[in-house]
Amino acid sequence: MKYKCCNHILGSIDLSFSGFKYCNEVWEGPEYIHYSEENAFEKNEERRLKIIEEMKNGIIPIKCQQCPMLEEKEWKEFDGKIFKITVFNWAHCNASCFYCSVHSNFCETVKKSDEYDALPIIEKLSDEGRLTSDTFIAFMGGEPTMLEEFPQILKMLLDKNCRIEVLSNGIKYEPEISRMLQAENNNNICISLDCGCRESYKKIKRVDKYNEVLQTVKRYIDEAGDKSNRLRLKYIIFPNVNDNKKEIDNFFKVCQNLKVKTVSRAVNHQESKMNTTNKVIESSVIKSYEYFAKQAEKFGMTLMPEMWADAIVENKVYNCRQISLLTRIKATLKFLSGKNIK
Ligand SMILES: C[S@@+](CC[C@H](N)C(=O)[O-])C[C@H]1O[C@@H](n2cnc3c(N)ncnc32)[C@H](O)[C@@H]1O
Ligand code: SF4
Repeated sequence: MKYKCCNHILGSIDLSFSGFKYCNEVWEGPEYIHYSEENAFEKNEERRLKIIEEMKNGIIPIKCQQCPMLEEKEWKEFDGKIFKITVFNWAHCNASCFYCSVHSNFCETVKKSDEYDALPIIEKLSDEGRLTSDTFIAFMGGEPTMLEEFPQILKMLLDKNCRIEVLSNGIKYEPEISRMLQAENNNNICISLDCGCRESYKKIKRVDKYNEVLQTVKRYIDEAGDKSNRLRLKYIIFPNVNDNKKEIDNFFKVCQNLKVKTVSRAVNHQESKMNTTNKVIESSVIKSYEYFAKQAEKFGMTLMPEMWADAIVENKVYNCRQISLLTRIKATLKFLSGKNIK
């Protein structure tokens, strides 16, 4: 039937800190149903069916109305199958990144979520035949390796042959992640290193675990063998922190030493909402962003695109073109020297 709907309503699940809904994107979508409500997960699934029926009749939920994901087209009938699950039902983490968008709770030991468990929900979906080998599961968090139920969930998903992506800080090595990287489907892990030396790492992550991360990366890469390109090392560029040539050069030296084949770059996603005034800082972030891509090419590494980060840069949040020649020169000097130019 032809109507206005989106992929998320038709088969995506968001298991968040607060509860359940369908889309975990920049767009808002229908409100979360809080996990503490009775039968909250079932309610979310019932609401899905109701929304689909309403959309067929041209009624769009208020928070979906401005969403770019909405599309008028011939949609296939919803068959209960889930194509994407985003898991972030815990907030604890063994790092304390100054930029952390989820304001994670520092905790050095593995523990259960303070909210609710995801495993019974994923098991239920599996028992009901709603997961297939096309289902894609992304783990965010908090730090996945700090979640007690994480290895069990991974094991179950691997047995189901689902496709998995894990975002991790890499401080703790997890054997199930290694198994996941060796599996047949295109599973992957993204580790945010964000720098190329221990001193910068301590400033950014606010823990002294740089060497542990390098060891974990090396171990995953060695164990993944010919599938080692599934590990991606990420560098989020922050003004006055790591937006300079030296740090990026060091990052690529580390990548070469560890035989990293895939990298990605990003910017602070909160910047898209910032009313930026310091144009010197902004343009050195752009310089770093461009330089990073050039270095990846130079060393024959695959640069995985982060569409949203490209959009922030291209949408002129950091707009070089609006700034004066003098400011650009200062930005270049700052990028090359790593020092703030007055
Ligand atoms: C909240 S983290 C949780 C997963 C894991 N602890 C990690 O750091 O990879 C999820 C992802 O968001 C990214 N992230 C967190 N805060 C960010 C920010 N302000 N801007 C851009 N990316 C951010 C992290 O790099 C990571 O890839
Ligand atoms: S490692 Fe991840 S969850 Fe932990 S503080 Fe950093 S961004 Fe947040």
